[in-house]
Amino acid sequence: MLNVALPKGRLGEKVYDMFEKSGYDCPLIREENRKLIFENSKTGVRFFWVKPSDVSIYVERGAADIGVAGKDILLEYKPDVYELLDLNVGKCKMVVAAKKEFRDDGIKILKVATKFTNIAADYYAGLGRDIDIIKLNGSIELAPILGLSDIIVDIVETGKTLKENNLEVKETILPISARLIANKASFNFKRETIEKIVFAIKGQVEKSD
Ligand code: PRP
Repeated sequence: MLNVALPKGRLGEKVYDMFEKSGYDCPLIREENRKLIFENSKTGVRFFWVKPSDVSIYVERGAADIGVAGKDILLEYKPDVYELLDLNVGKCKMVVAAKKEFRDDGIKILKVATKFTNIAADYYAGLGRDIDIIKLNGSIELAPILGLSDIIVDIVETGKTLKENNLEVKETILPISARLIANKASFNFKRETIEKIVFAIKGQVEKSD
């Protein structure tokens, strides 16, 4: 069996569609239930749903041979895995955002609220700017509104959350999308099977932006 970790939620369902269209279906997964593991003995693939930010942990440690994780997670946690394919779904951007009226004087230490502390630290180190990182776990947009931080480093998809909270994008750090990743040992031992899947999934990747 090839073990595949899929991110639970809307993105995971989109990604499962790509597997299904590539010939790696598992009909039971479509049924409404709370099961977490599904296998198809015919195709030899076992899928399981995990929290999106946990996919790379399963893959890095070999509990999953392959999986799908956002580029944000890969940059933040730098798991020791192979990145095989950009699936061109789950697209969004990592940005710096702040209140419309906020201007960085470039002198005072910048207070940055984020879930992505490593991405924020790398970005500002590259700019040679001193920052004070405030690690939050969600609803990051609240931080500049309540004066907890000057700015936030966060993901923007539609831009609705920023807009509805009177914040705006100040800088774009990088584009994000979902990536197919593989455990390094699995890639060596199950190379043929994994490459077959990658080839089939490649045919389902939409080239549009
Ligand atoms: C993410 C992100 C923003 C929001 C952006 O939060 O942190 O808050 O989505 O989406 P939008 O541009 O389409 O409005 P998530 O839903 O993951 O929840 P969180 O507050 O727990 O981070």
